[in-house]
Amino acid sequence: MTNPLVQPLALPCGVTLANRLCKAAMSEGMADVNNNATPRLEALYRRWAVSDAGLLFSGNIQVDPDHLERPLNIVVHDESGQEQLARLAAAGRSGGAQFWPSSAIPAARSTQLSTRRRLRPRWSNSTSCAAPASISRNHGR
Ligand SMILES: Cc1cc2nc3c(=O)[nH]c(=O)nc-3n(C[C@H](O)[C@H](O)[C@H](O)COP(=O)(O)O)c2cc1C
Repeated sequence: MTNPLVQPLALPCGVTLANRLCKAAMSEGMADVNNNATPRLEALYRRWAVSDAGLLFSGNIQVDPDHLERPLNIVVHDESGQEQLARLAAAGRSGGAQFWPSSAIPAARSTQLSTRRRLRPRWSNSTSCAAPASISRNHGR
């Protein structure tokens, strides 16, 4: 019998994964001080790209530079860093896998270390944060 793990998987969204192996989201903290993707991150994802996994989830990609999960998260909050992000996505896809970004909910993960002492050149007095989706922290309970 053929191992089901190596069989393609058609998803309802229309994407077909080459197999059922997936690299889970893992926080990297390997962006630069402007929270953009780096050649080191590209090299990491190029290595994972040849692992034969059908799907690579990225680590935390934040949407609010004032509320990070850890210093050196990637942050997507304006037009900056798009080229670096495109290179990272290309590295992730270079072996034929899907590369899906994991946008993080900052309030649930931010710590004092990553918000008030993060490795960014500017400080902020912001007290609220943006979120990629309106998911409550109590997860409906
Ligand atoms: C954005 C994001 C970042 C994550 N970072 C980590 C991490 O750094 N370390 C870790 O063990 N799990 C991390 N996780 C959780 C794993 O990706 C995974 O969901 C978890 O280990 C449960 O896997 P399982 O359902 O196969 O048991 C992260 C999840 C998300 C969505």
